[in-house]
Formats: sequence, C-alpha cells, structure tokens
Amino acid sequence: MSHAAAILAGPVYGGYQYAYPHKTAYRPLTRPVPLREVWAEEPKTGLFLYVHIPFCPMRCGFCNLFTLTRGEGRVGPYLDALRLQAETVADQLGTLQVARMAIGGGTPTFLDPSDLDRLFYDLRTTFAASPTLIPTSVETAPGTTTPDRLAVLRAHGVERVSIGVESFRGDETRAMGRPQSRDAVEAALRAIRDARIPVLNIDLIYGAAGQTPARFLDSVEAALAWEPEELFLYPLYVRPLTGLGRRDGAVEGDGAWDVRRLAIYRAARDRLRAAGYAQVSMRMFRRGPEATWGPAYDCARDGMVGLGAGARSYTAALHYSTPYAVGQAGIAEIVADYVARDAVRHGRADYGARLDDEDRRRRFVLMHLLQSAGLSLLAYAGRFGTALLDDLPELASLVEAGLATLDGGTLTLTEAGLERSDAIGPRLQAAGTRERMRAFALR
Ligand SMILES: C[S@@+](CC[C@H](N)C(=O)[O-])C[C@H]1O[C@@H](n2cnc3c(N)ncnc32)[C@H](O)[C@@H]1O
Ligand code: SF4
Repeated sequence: MSHAAAILAGPVYGGYQYAYPHKTAYRPLTRPVPLREVWAEEPKTGLFLYVHIPFCPMRCGFCNLFTLTRGEGRVGPYLDALRLQAETVADQLGTLQVARMAIGGGTPTFLDPSDLDRLFYDLRTTFAASPTLIPTSVETAPGTTTPDRLAVLRAHGVERVSIGVESFRGDETRAMGRPQSRDAVEAALRAIRDARIPVLNIDLIYGAAGQTPARFLDSVEAALAWEPEELFLYPLYVRPLTGLGRRDGAVEGDGAWDVRRLAIYRAARDRLRAAGYAQVSMRMFRRGPEATWGPAYDCARDGMVGLGAGARSYTAALHYSTPYAVGQAGIAEIVADYVARDAVRHGRADYGARLDDEDRRRRFVLMHLLQSAGLSLLAYAGRFGTALLDDLPELASLVEAGLATLDGGTLTLTEAGLERSDAIGPRLQAAGTRERMRAFALR
C-alpha cells in the first residue's frame, strides 16, 4: 500500500503534530550541558520567548497540558524561580534578540494583576523583551479574563489574546468536563474587546459527545459575532490520564467518531471561509491580512527559549525542558523541583532530545507541509543540500492520491490533505523518535 493509501485507509485523527519531537521522546541527557554550550552555534537574533504558567482554576476533562490546579500559594515562589531562570538563561546566552513572545499555560490569567505586572517587568529587565517592542500573545480562559487583568495586558502593549472557549453550549462544555456558563464566556469576550487588544483568537473544540454539525455551528456563529481576528478549530482528542480518558477509556481509532468529527469540521471550515477567513492550517483560520501579529519568525528554523516548568526550548540540535507528566502528582513534583532549582541547575539542560539529521529534515517538512502555504522544495534543498523527494520519496504519493499538489516547486496540501493533517503528520515522524515516544512511561 502506498504512503498516501495508508493515510486514506487509517484514522483521520491520528495525532496532533504541533511540536516535533513530542516531549514523550525526551529523556534525561547523558550529561547536563551548560546552556552556553547548547546555544554556542545557534543564531540568537530571531528568538521566540515562551513563558509557561502551569496553573489553572480547575482541570478540564479533555486537557493533558502541563498545569496544576490548587496553585494558590505557589505562584509567588514560582515567579521567583522564573526570575532566577530568566536571569541565568539570559546571562548564559549572551547577546540575543527576542523577536516574539508568548505567555501560555495552563492559564496565565490565573495570576493576579500585580503578578502579571511583575512578570512583564521580569521579562523586560532580563531579556529586554517587552510587548511594546515585540509581538506578544497571552493565553486566557473565560473565568479569569477579568477587566483588571486585561488592563495590565493592555498597559504593557500585548497584541494578541487567545481564549479557550471550546463551545458556547453549556451541555457540550459539561460533556467535555469543563463546566462553564455561556454568560461567563460572553462576559470574557466583551472584556477583551473593551480592552482593545488588537488581535482576539478564539479556540473551539469539535467532537464532544452528542455534537452534530448544526450544534457546532451554533458555537461558530456565536464566535463570529465577536469578529475574532483568528479562530482555531481543535478536534477533540481523548487522551490517557485526562478526566475524559479515565471516564471513557481509549476512544482513538473509532471510525464512526472520525466520520462525525470530519463532518463537523467540514461544516465549520466552510462557514469560516464563507465569512471571509483564510485557512492557515487544518486548525487555524485568520481574518484580514496575513500575520497581523508578528514579524518573520520561522518556527522550523529559529530558536525558542522556554521559561518556566513545562516550557520547551529549541536549538537546531537539541530540544530540552523540565521532565514531563500529565497527572497532577507528577506535575506537582516537577513544579516543586523547578522552584527549588539554583542558578547552576537553571543554567544547564539535563532533559531533552537530540535531533539527528533525519529528525531535522522531518521537522522542517512537518512545520511547513501542514501549513496552507506549503513546503518549498527550493527552501528544503537550500537548507539541507538534498532534494526533498529523494529524501522522502513517499511524499510523491500524496500528489498521486490528490492529498497534495506540486506547483511551482511548492508541495501544498489540498483541501483533502489539509483535513487529514493529523493522519499525515504522525507518519512523518522518524522511526527512532516514534519508538521513543511509544516507549515513554506516562505518569
Ligand atoms: C493552552 S490551551 C488554552 C488555554 C486556556 N487554559 C483555556 O483552556 O482556555 C490551548 C487549547 O488547546 C485545545 N486543547 C487542549 N486539549 C485538547 C484536547 N484534548 N482536544 C482538543 N483540543 C484540546 C483547547 O482548545 C485549548 O483552548
Ligand atoms: S484546558 Fe486550559 S483551563 Fe482547562 S486545564 Fe487545560 S490549560 Fe487549564
């Protein structure tokens, strides 16, 4: 069976390839490496600074992100540790320039306004990173999207706020293990618009129990009423160790659910296109001109500095972070260890994945092919010195099967290909990396 035939025959929703390699492919490094050494050969002028806030008011049933509930009392020590890490990392990296910044989680707006203010101060005084100077995005969730917090974001010049709404229907959010009222969601969106943050992104999740295309379109319409600059459509995944995973067990590979999710996705995608949104990737839709926020930052090429427990950092050769867990006990242990670190430990990488040549090529392909703009064969050859279709001949079958086109030297997924991004992505992993991910003992 050809590569493309296997994609078409297998599950539509195989896995979300938002970072490669996934953290389940990370392991303790054989020797801790000083960050000065890790970053020695790396260009440091177009960095992405990612700051992770691993706290939430509650744990949503679908969520496997690195976050803790009952964070009260832990925020102060956590921000102290983050400050120490920021000072140490900035010192180790030397001359650098941050091009973009994102504060994610968890729920960054779990922090009080004064703590948010402090965080911006710390980032400015360590990395010279200020939202007034560089495009900055902050994640939020409805209950914590309050006018006083938004006023802090606005005062610092934050350009983009991304809110997880997931669904405007109470029955669906309840079914997904995230009880939230429609009123709370609308109030949060009103507050963001009142704060005049330039870019609003709304996340929606499709595929909740009992959902139909028409019911999901209720949420799409409710989102469109706010004229968000960006919208993400996430297929619901039920993952191990989450609330839904414990309740429903493994439901991946359920063909009927795949068919239902795909029908809902198509209805929503078509509605967004009709409303004038351009499709950036399977999940992402944008209204208006390209890149309303952010100068050129190439996620497949430029480095990422992660601050906080759970944040990844990337150089071309090494991806590293704190260890990984999904369950609350494991996460609490990792956060406590992070808070206890001294400058010596903050100044070295001790857990991660080295990317060999094959990983780097496959990562480059994944980062470009799964975007609507496609993968330039010239850019690939310029980067690696070899021809894409020599290295990954199986990609030619995507064209034969109508999942991609090859025009003007760019391999671009068709509509049929883009909606199968979660089937195409996992098959692009290197065998060794996939095996490490599979063998990871999830806790
Ligand atoms: C960092 S979270 C959002 C931030 C914020 N804490 C919130 O929940 O509103 C990013 C998004 O990933 C999506 N997501 C997380 N887990 C998911 C899952 N299992 N299936 C589908 N989407 C998921 C949700 O849409 C979520 O809003
Ligand atoms: S979905 Fe958002 S609010 Fe819910 S637990 Fe995950 S990070 Fe926290």
